[in-house]
Amino acid sequence: MKAIQYERYGPPDVMQLVDLPDRVPATDEVLIAVRAVSVGPGDCKTRSGSLDGSHPASFPKIPGRSGAGIVVALGAQADFATIGDLVCFSTPHTESGSCAEFVTRPRDQIGRVPPPLDAVAAAAVGHPGVCAWIALVETARVEPGMRVLVQGGSGTIGAQAIQLAKHLGARVSATARRKNAAYVERLGADEVIAFDEGGDAGRARFDVVLDTVGGETHRRSYAALRAGGVLVYLRAAPIDETPARTDVRTLLARIDYRPEILEKVLALAAQGVLRPQVGLTLPLAQCAEAHRRLEARTHGLGRVVLTVP
Ligand SMILES: NC(=O)c1ccc[n+]([C@@H]2O[C@H](COP(=O)([O-])OP(=O)(O)OC[C@H]3O[C@@H](n4cnc5c(N)ncnc54)[C@H](OP(=O)(O)O)[C@@H]3O)[C@@H](O)[C@H]2O)c1
Repeated sequence: MKAIQYERYGPPDVMQLVDLPDRVPATDEVLIAVRAVSVGPGDCKTRSGSLDGSHPASFPKIPGRSGAGIVVALGAQADFATIGDLVCFSTPHTESGSCAEFVTRPRDQIGRVPPPLDAVAAAAVGHPGVCAWIALVETARVEPGMRVLVQGGSGTIGAQAIQLAKHLGARVSATARRKNAAYVERLGADEVIAFDEGGDAGRARFDVVLDTVGGETHRRSYAALRAGGVLVYLRAAPIDETPARTDVRTLLARIDYRPEILEKVLALAAQGVLRPQVGLTLPLAQCAEAHRRLEARTHGLGRVVLTVP
């Protein structure tokens, strides 16, 4: 099979298209013919080596943490899927990634994709949707009527978070560049704060702030929270881990890919509640170009998705 692989950390062109032996599923796994691969900032960070301290890669490394494809073979005890199923899947940091024609996955790392979603849509919404769900539903416990601020509203996780928070009945504000304000409004934000024009989220206005940006933005998020509010964050730009206030809760959203969450996200996408956002599609062989475009921020608004014919 064809796959993308790299043998050392470095710039995007360390990644090469290679021929590898065909995959054979273990007894509790299915074999998936990959149709679409989601590429995000974490893939670039892993490839560059900047996550070596927390998530060291073992080489040779196939990049990619998630994707979607068709089940084409079953291990002897893999009774949880049927040949022909369209599934969304994740691949942990420690294992071979999704940038390959075939992957093998166990039950706890796949979710069925309901119609009318196709593989590209499922790959685009699966990972950012799960991140948004874990942050807003499981960690911050957003409820109807709450005021929620999404830092990074034009990003792929921000875009799903805005839609999910609206679905949960919250009143949603989001930070974004002025040029992306209309996009963020189309996602459902009630208010857009243009961070590149010095827009400020104000003081003590929000019950929940979701920080997908980190760095200084993380620090500034504290002021926007009311007493008793929640700052929920993903690991983005490095932050000062010491909370700036003691009258709010600071919670890391711990991301995993339990099938029950993935399937809830995919069901909401199939209902049109979470609209998949695709910024750029390229063929799998152009994985290095996908990383270059992501790092140069020229991939458009939405996920970069690699397609496999
Ligand atoms: N386990 C985890 O903790 C976990 C899991 C998944 C992702 N992550 C991390 O979460 C972060 C977000 O992921 P993503 O896929 O959503 O990335 P993304 O699509 O690149 O989105 C980041 C967004 O933040 C915006 N932004 C940059 N500076 C900003 C500022 N000062 N204020 C407001 N918005 C700002 C960017 O806008 P411009 O493009 O206009 O600059 C972009 O839209 C990444 O760093 C990723 O690595 C962590």
